[in-house]
Amino acid sequence: MKTLKLDHTVAVVTGGNGGIGLGIAKGLAEAGAAVVITGRDAAKNAAALQVLQRLQPNCRAEICDIRDRGAIQQLFRQVRETLGPVDILVNNAGIAIGTPPEDISEADWDAVLDTNLKSVFWCCQDAFADLQDQSVSGHPGKIINIASLYSIFGGARVASYSASKGGIVQMTKALAVAWAPNEIQVNAIIPGWIDTDMTQAVQDDPPFYKNILARTPAGRFGQPEELAGAAVFLASQSANFVTGVILPVDGGYSAG
Ligand SMILES: NC(=O)c1ccc[n+]([C@@H]2O[C@H](COP(=O)([O-])OP(=O)(O)OC[C@H]3O[C@@H](n4cnc5c(N)ncnc54)[C@H](OP(=O)(O)O)[C@@H]3O)[C@@H](O)[C@H]2O)c1
Repeated sequence: MKTLKLDHTVAVVTGGNGGIGLGIAKGLAEAGAAVVITGRDAAKNAAALQVLQRLQPNCRAEICDIRDRGAIQQLFRQVRETLGPVDILVNNAGIAIGTPPEDISEADWDAVLDTNLKSVFWCCQDAFADLQDQSVSGHPGKIINIASLYSIFGGARVASYSASKGGIVQMTKALAVAWAPNEIQVNAIIPGWIDTDMTQAVQDDPPFYKNILARTPAGRFGQPEELAGAAVFLASQSANFVTGVILPVDGGYSAG
């Protein structure tokens, strides 16, 4: 078996300053990667960076609104200049706006689709040259996209979110096929219900919360750190022949 160690690799985690992104970033840093987290909020970036640098001193935090294509291109330029070419890209940043479909505004639809789907594609394309460059680390390029249970199930107030996350699954497969010859592996993780800011309103709504617990065989929400094991595996050389896979980490929800 190849190692799960990520020493000498460079990873970018979008939205890595909190929630699932930070849980994954901590796992990658513990495995040895120099992790660059991105977000729009400077205070959240600074707090998360303190945690990460205790695990791997080369970690960095960058302000980057991923809806801004120029900012994404600048991010990868800067990472290359300071740390070297990116080996691992985790497309995690995302938003959800819950609204009945008959009431969704064009602005909200665009915000969700631009953040969760369009910007993920540009991150992949703008990182492509770095990901296929193994000259520094010798590590095949890895993309890990964060999908959702709403990639496979419907929900009454999440038409835009479901459209974006369904798109993530199909885009993951398309890129996996296209870039396998370039030794870039592209996979996705489907988190179940995870205890983060995004799900706070749901956790504060007793009937909804109880229904989720009843439908989750593990009987609980997951913690952000519980996504790290799957992410480290998919980021590692142990996954060099694993591509196009959609991996649920959901306490059994999608099996039921
Ligand atoms: N929590 C769950 O149960 C769950 C389940 C399935 C899938 N997911 C997915 O997992 C991912 C992370 O969710 P989470 O629950 O950890 O949510 P969260 O706690 O709300 O974190 C979202 C992250 O995305 C960043 N972000 C949002 N818009 C951005 C933008 N335009 N540019 C740059 N960064 C942006 C935020 O940073 P700033 O605020 O600093 O910009 C933050 O770091 C999302 O893709 C979500 O759809 C979550």
